[in-house]
Amino acid sequence: MSNGDNDFVLSIRGVNKTFGGLQALSDINLNIEKGKVHAIIGPNGAGKSTLLNTCIGLLTPDSGSITFGGKDLTKSMTPHAINQAGISRVFQTPQIFPELSILQNVMIPAFAKRDGAFSFNPLKALREEEGILNEATTLLDDLGMGEGAHHHAGNLSRGNKRRLELAMCLIQHPKLLLLDEPTAGMARHDTNRTIELLKKIKESGMTKVIIEHDMHVVFSLADRISVLAQGAIIAEGTPDEIKGHPKVREAYLGSAEI
Ligand SMILES: Nc1ncnc2c1ncn2[C@@H]1O[C@H](COP(=O)(O)OP(=O)(O)O)[C@@H](O)[C@H]1O
Ligand SMILES: [Mg+2]
Repeated sequence: MSNGDNDFVLSIRGVNKTFGGLQALSDINLNIEKGKVHAIIGPNGAGKSTLLNTCIGLLTPDSGSITFGGKDLTKSMTPHAINQAGISRVFQTPQIFPELSILQNVMIPAFAKRDGAFSFNPLKALREEEGILNEATTLLDDLGMGEGAHHHAGNLSRGNKRRLELAMCLIQHPKLLLLDEPTAGMARHDTNRTIELLKKIKESGMTKVIIEHDMHVVFSLADRISVLAQGAIIAEGTPDEIKGHPKVREAYLGSAEI
């Protein structure tokens, strides 16, 4: 099936990143296959968020390349340009507009995607508003957040803020969705609802990279898993391969739990 670079949505090659004396990423090579869910797991401080940040232009690697849609994202592409090119990301800490309604929060990224943040066209926006409103409403219903859609987003629980942020990504129809611990801080029933939603999106064929601590979430969703420890990839494989991998148990789990 994999017969060339064309199967890969994202290719990370030889990426290094240091912070002062700390080698946060060490010669990372990673291919993300189209339509798949690729999980990145590893202990706290392993470099998972740093890796995602290099993919969205928030951090520039010291060396290496990250290719997406034929372009090297590390070569002077702004976070906004990368987002326009088709990568959306759910942050580890929710980034929402607290003073706006939940519904407005979901609508804004749709406008930003279409017009670009600096060339906002109000007439075009008005014409498109109804379509975007309908889509945002449907998305929120799917997320079980439809009822309070006109409430201030700032009042949401942490778990619901993360779900809202997910809706803000999904309305952009990204080619690649990056999720940094999408269920962090959620109660089990909220986690389960989010997994169900992510499974539903999986069926849509959207490529996803997910960073997650919760092994239940990882093994429910991932087609492929890479294990990061101290800035290096120490194992990669299918969930079954990773479950049985001795290096993974040793470096990451420290127990026979998975
Ligand atoms: N902006 C930064 N400046 C300095 N050190 C950083 C910065 N971001 C991350 N680090 C360090 O890099 C390492 C990897 O961090 P991070 O990517 O956040 O790990 P993870 O997401 O796997 O928990 C940690 O040791 C962290 O303290
Ligand atoms: Mg992190």
